[in-house]
Amino acid sequence: MNHFEVRSGELHCEDVPLTRIADAVGTPVYVYSQATLERHFNVFREALHAHAALGEPLIAYAVKANSNVSVLRVLAALGAGADTVSEGEIRRALAAGIPADRIVFSGVGKRRAEIEFALTAGVCEINVESEPELELIAAIAEQLTLQAPVVFRVNPDVEAGGHAKIATGKAENKFGVSFSEARRLYAAAAAHPHLSPLGVACHIGSQITDLAPFEAAFRKMRGLVEDLRADGLAVERLDLGGGLGVPYFNAPEPPTPADYAAMVARVVEGLDVRLAFEPGRMIAANAGALIARVIHRHERPEGRKFLVLDAAMNDLIRPAMYESFHDIRPVLATNAPPEPMDVVGPVCETGDTFAQGRSLPALDSGALVAFMSAGAYGAAMASEYNSRPLVPEVLVSGDKFAVIRRRPTYEEMLADETPAGWL
Ligand code: LLP
Repeated sequence: MNHFEVRSGELHCEDVPLTRIADAVGTPVYVYSQATLERHFNVFREALHAHAALGEPLIAYAVKANSNVSVLRVLAALGAGADTVSEGEIRRALAAGIPADRIVFSGVGKRRAEIEFALTAGVCEINVESEPELELIAAIAEQLTLQAPVVFRVNPDVEAGGHAKIATGKAENKFGVSFSEARRLYAAAAAHPHLSPLGVACHIGSQITDLAPFEAAFRKMRGLVEDLRADGLAVERLDLGGGLGVPYFNAPEPPTPADYAAMVARVVEGLDVRLAFEPGRMIAANAGALIARVIHRHERPEGRKFLVLDAAMNDLIRPAMYESFHDIRPVLATNAPPEPMDVVGPVCETGDTFAQGRSLPALDSGALVAFMSAGAYGAAMASEYNSRPLVPEVLVSGDKFAVIRRRPTYEEMLADETPAGWL
């Protein structure tokens, strides 16, 4: 459920008509519903709380999905932690008021300066993905004379389905250590004076719409916790990652958070660990829409129709990158009959196509459309490709809206470039 709905023939975000935002801020523009962000977080938390076996888990929102500081502030106020993958994301989480002891630092290639920053800030766990990384963390912790809280990200080698570019849990993927490496490295970490191994983690992919791969991975993780304990090692944390899919309207209905929580409760029953989850898409995707204006409709003599928008692949790259589906809705109701058309942006690549043969009313120049379910991996993946200024973001709460990242001016876009001295 989300808070985008048609009222008196006009698509609103909460109580604000999207036309008002488009007129005030210009297009393209991302619009987020605070009530939906809150609802998604609370639904997930309540689903987990329904099972005593799950204790009081850490819900570390995956910042990469939507890293706007206002979005993070909304979640921080609800008690969210943050799953981060760079110093930049840790800084964003801290700037939003997420306490360091709720920040997880993940990622396959953390740089020395980033690890120093994370350890000094006091993050609650660094998810270690390889032996060289463990050695680097140990050396830095020794130099800083502190204890590094480490959790081993294990690659559970399961097939998660979904798009190959976002599957992470197969042995051939770059992520995490194997089960045998985890046992060896955990024991080594336990013997190291500056490392505190706290537990193990996994994350098998994103937009997963079936519980079976999660369950297979989580059962393997439980086995690993038991094996480590049998080795005489203390294991207090189990981080189960993110990845639960959301409805994009064309895909199979994903399991509900309640179904997911019940499955996790079955798997971890009696294990006595503090759980952590890293949901991103589930919180943010359906809380956001990208609003664009029609530049014109172009009809080829042989019949192919193109709806050319002022949004492009640099603003929302998911269709070009993962062939992903976003529902496209006219912001103002129209009586024009729907017909199949290709919805495209102005960027000079055929890949800049949002949808092919999509059934939409023949909208005129200036009409507004909304790309639904664009709150996750939308603005966060935007670029200035084709020298199009970075797309702005707006947060709505009730009848208020605020620009939470403004559109840079052309002067600002050029300001960081210094012509080489010899030119
Ligand atoms: N934890 C880790 C370690 C991750 O790598 C990710 C996402 C998450 C949590 C959050 O996963 P989620 O709950 O959002 O599925 N750009 C792609 C998605 C990339 C996901 C990368 N990792 C897309 O637009 O579909």
